[in-house]
Amino acid sequence: TTVADLAGRHVVVSAGGTREPLDPVRFLGNRSSGKQGYALARTAVARGARVTLVAANTGLPDPAGADVVTAGTAEQLREQVVKAAADADVVVMAAAVADFRPAAYAAGKIKKKDGEEPPPLALVRNPDILAEISAHRARPGQLVVGFAAETDDVLANGRAKLARKGCDLLVVNEVGERKAFGTEENEAVVLGADGSETPVPYGPKEALADRIWDLVAARLV
Ligand code: PMT
Repeated sequence: TTVADLAGRHVVVSAGGTREPLDPVRFLGNRSSGKQGYALARTAVARGARVTLVAANTGLPDPAGADVVTAGTAEQLREQVVKAAADADVVVMAAAVADFRPAAYAAGKIKKKDGEEPPPLALVRNPDILAEISAHRARPGQLVVGFAAETDDVLANGRAKLARKGCDLLVVNEVGERKAFGTEENEAVVLGADGSETPVPYGPKEALADRIWDLVAARLV
């Protein structure tokens, strides 16, 4: 049996990976499947929350009971998350958002030409949605949870990211063969702005999701 400790709460979860178009057939993307975010959405529904899931390029079935909206690019994800966050108690950014997008979009397919150098790929920064949501809480007491996917100096980078982004909780997961991107399982340390550190052992993404909701529920006023 699950306690309905999120009953009456509106939670927003982003999931999946943004794709930044380069031309009509190409994009810059990442390896997020959306599984961790969907596990968060499913477990939040089970705990009684009203759930808005902002899904980026996932191809997963809609979780029963969640309102699902889609976004392709980081800009589109930002628009949907900001809109849904307006009356949210909790925002969880599990999506892998591109930090950069191509500076230009080529209306026609970019062609290779014999004897010519490959074209340079100029990038510009995307908005930092997590930092923005954290800095401009749509309502008092709104809780903001971020993720950090790291390959090295995992905890040190996670702590620095928590401070930089200004969120309340940061779920730090290490990129690996059997965890984080694309897998059924994950492992993490959840860092709190209050200095707390909660290790979550290797297991199904649902189990990590439930531990995150435990930490969120304990902080909701
Ligand atoms: O989808 P799965 O295959 O299940 O994999 C899950 C996951 C590995 C994608 C997930 O657990 C995870 O770690 N998500 C965040 C991935 C990521 O992009 O991390 P980051 O360290 O680059 O970003 C830090 C945080 O800032 C994230 O909450 C991200 O959503 C947010 N962000 C990043 C860039 C940006 N421009 N805007 C953002 O809001």
